[in-house]
Amino acid sequence: MMRGAALVGAIASALISLAQGILLPSPPGPYDVTLRTTELNDFSRNETYASGADHRRIMVSVFSPIPKGSESCESIYMPDAVANYEMKYYSSLPAPANITLDIKQFKQQVCSVDVTHGKPHQNLDRQAVHNTTSFPLIFFSPGHGGPRFWYHFMLQHFASYGYIVVLMDHPGDSHIVEFPDGSTILYSPDTSATEDAIERNLLVRTADASFTLDQLSFNCTLRHLVFSSHVRAESFERVGIWGHSFGGDTAVSANLEDKRFSGAINLDGYLYGRVQKDGFDRPALFIEDDDGLTSPHWIATWPLIRGYRQMLRLKGTLHYGLMDDRLLADLAGVDAPTLGSIDGLTLIETFTAYARDFFEFALHGQGLGLLEGPSPEYPQVVFDEPREDQ
Ligand SMILES: *[C@@H]1O[C@H](CO)[C@@H](O)[C@H](O)[C@H]1NC(C)=O
Ligand SMILES: *[C@@H]1O[C@H](CO)[C@@H](O)[C@H](O)[C@H]1NC(C)=O
Ligand SMILES: *[C@@H]1O[C@H](CO)[C@@H](O)[C@H](O)[C@H]1NC(C)=O
Ligand SMILES: *[C@@H]1O[C@H](CO)[C@@H](O)[C@H](O)[C@H]1NC(C)=O
Repeated sequence: MMRGAALVGAIASALISLAQGILLPSPPGPYDVTLRTTELNDFSRNETYASGADHRRIMVSVFSPIPKGSESCESIYMPDAVANYEMKYYSSLPAPANITLDIKQFKQQVCSVDVTHGKPHQNLDRQAVHNTTSFPLIFFSPGHGGPRFWYHFMLQHFASYGYIVVLMDHPGDSHIVEFPDGSTILYSPDTSATEDAIERNLLVRTADASFTLDQLSFNCTLRHLVFSSHVRAESFERVGIWGHSFGGDTAVSANLEDKRFSGAINLDGYLYGRVQKDGFDRPALFIEDDDGLTSPHWIATWPLIRGYRQMLRLKGTLHYGLMDDRLLADLAGVDAPTLGSIDGLTLIETFTAYARDFFEFALHGQGLGLLEGPSPEYPQVVFDEPREDQ
C-alpha cells in the first residue's frame, strides 16, 4: 500500500500548477535525484548518420539518488531546440494523433547540470556529508525518433527508488540531438530505410550502450562528473537495461552483444537482429501496450528465450504513450486519445514498480515480487504470452 500512498502524494504535488508553468511531481521514492547531462565522444567510431561529423558523439542523461532533502531545483523539462522540434512534430501527425502540447511550460523538480565542460556546481555537493552508497546501474534507450527527454520524468521517478540511471540519445535515430555547443544532429532516414538499415542502426545503438558503459567503468573523471558525490555504481559487470520500442530491442541486443548487461525490459518493441536466430539467455520482461499489435512479432522468438521470461500487457495503454507524454497531456488538459486512456502517473508508477522488481531479480537474484502473478494493486497489468489475437 506504500505505493498507493506515494501516488496520492505525487498527484497532489502535480496540481501545483504555477502561472508560468506546470511543475511535474517530485519523485516518490526514498531518495531525491540529481540529473547530470554530458556529451561523450567515441573517437573509435565514425558518425555515419550526419554529414561533416568526424566521430560518433552521443548525449547522455544520468540520474543518481541523493539523500532526501539534499537539494531542490526546478529545471526545464526539455531544451528549447528539442521542445520546438517535438511540438511541431506532434501537431503535424495525422489526426487524431496530432496534438498541441506546450512542452515548454513543464518544469521538473530536479537539479540539472551539464557537466560536459567541467565540474558540477559546488552547491550540488552538499550531500557529501553522507556516506558513500552503492546503487545498481540501469541503462535506458529511447524509442526510434524519440529524444531522450521524453523519458526524463519516468526515469527520475525510477531513480528515486535507489538506481543510477543512464539514458542515451542515439544521434541520427533521434528526431534531434542537441549538443552542449548548440550544434544539433537531426533524424537521418538512413537509420530505418530498409530492414538492413534498421539492423545496422540496432548495432550502432548497441555500441552506444557498450561505449557508455566502458566510459563509466574506466573513466573516473567522467564518473565524478556524472554521478552525484558519494554515490557509487554497485557493479559495472552486472548492469540492467530497458527501453521503449526500438529501445526495447536495443536493450535485448545489448544483452546479446555485451555480457555486462544482465537483464532486459522491452517496452513494446518489435524484435530485429540476432535474437531472432540465436535467442536469448538473460532474464527478459516484455511489456505490450493494449492494442495487441506487437506480440505477434514476438511469437517466433519467444521459445528461444531460454532464461526467465515474462510478458505483460498493460490495459489502457497505447504505444506512443508509453513515455512521459501521457502524463504531460493529462497535466496540460490536452485530449490525446492515441496516447492511451490510462492515467499518465499510474502508467509511470506501474512501469517503475515492475521494473524495480524485475531488476532486483535479474541483478540480485531476489524473488520475483510483483512478477509472481496478478496483483490487486495493479489491475491494469495482465500476465500474458505472445499470441496472434488478443
Ligand atoms: C572512418 O572513416 C575514415 C575515412 O573515411 C576511414 O579511413 C576509417 O577507417 C573509418 N574508421 C572506422 C572505425 O570505420
Ligand atoms: C488535427 O487535425 C485535424 C484534421 O486536419 C484538425 O481538424 C484538427 O484541428 C487537428 N487538431 C489539433 C489539435 O491540431
Ligand atoms: C557513516 O558511516 C559511519 C560508520 O559506518 C557511521 O558511524 C555514520 O553514522 C555514517 N554517517 C552517516 C551520515 O550516515
Ligand atoms: C574521460 O571523461 C572525460 C569527461 O567526459 C573526457 O574529457 C575524457 O576525454 C575521457 N577520457 C577518456 C580516456 O576517454
